[in-house]
Amino acid sequence: MITIRYPSILDIGVCLGVLFLVSCGGQNKKKEEKPVFNTKETTTFKKTEEMVSTIPKSENVLGRRVFLLCAACHNVVKGEPHKVGPNLNGFLGNKAASKTDYIYSEALKDKDIIWSEATLRAWLDNPAGYVPGTKMAFVGVAKKEQQDALIAYLEEVTQ
Ligand code: HEC
Repeated sequence: MITIRYPSILDIGVCLGVLFLVSCGGQNKKKEEKPVFNTKETTTFKKTEEMVSTIPKSENVLGRRVFLLCAACHNVVKGEPHKVGPNLNGFLGNKAASKTDYIYSEALKDKDIIWSEATLRAWLDNPAGYVPGTKMAFVGVAKKEQQDALIAYLEEVTQ
């Protein structure tokens, strides 16, 4: 005679255990398929990509790369808007703080600087040391090789 046995607590327990293991296995698999970048990194990456594609191209690869440090705050192409910092188009050879539609710090306005290679070097060495009270919140570019390349790049793209 065949006896029909209802599942015992033990049987149900085993079943649930198996289900749990299977579903965990599935989740682990999903995790592995996740993209390498998390959302925040992807955004930063995209922003850098955008910036790289919009700043003027040049044979001067190092200069352009160093300028990425400045590009968050400065445009260089004529007619483009000021960002946190003024558009640098045509600044070389002019007096500092001479863009009439940008609000400079009193410190930069009061300091008598004509932008040349020499004054730009002093500024890049240590902006806040050269113009105490400037609102340019940036440490500068101290490495000589990077300065040389950056200055050459600025001479090329801000004209
Ligand atoms: C965090 C934003 C920021 C970064 C990064 C930055 N700057 Fe600036 N920059 C400013 C601001 C703000 C001013 C205006 C300073 C003032 O009024 O005191 C300024 C002013 C200047 C000026 C003077 C412009 C004028 O019209 O007299 C020059 C030149 C300059 N920056 C070059 C650079 C270079 C080159 C880099 C990259 C190595 C750089 N900046 C990076 C914000 C920035």
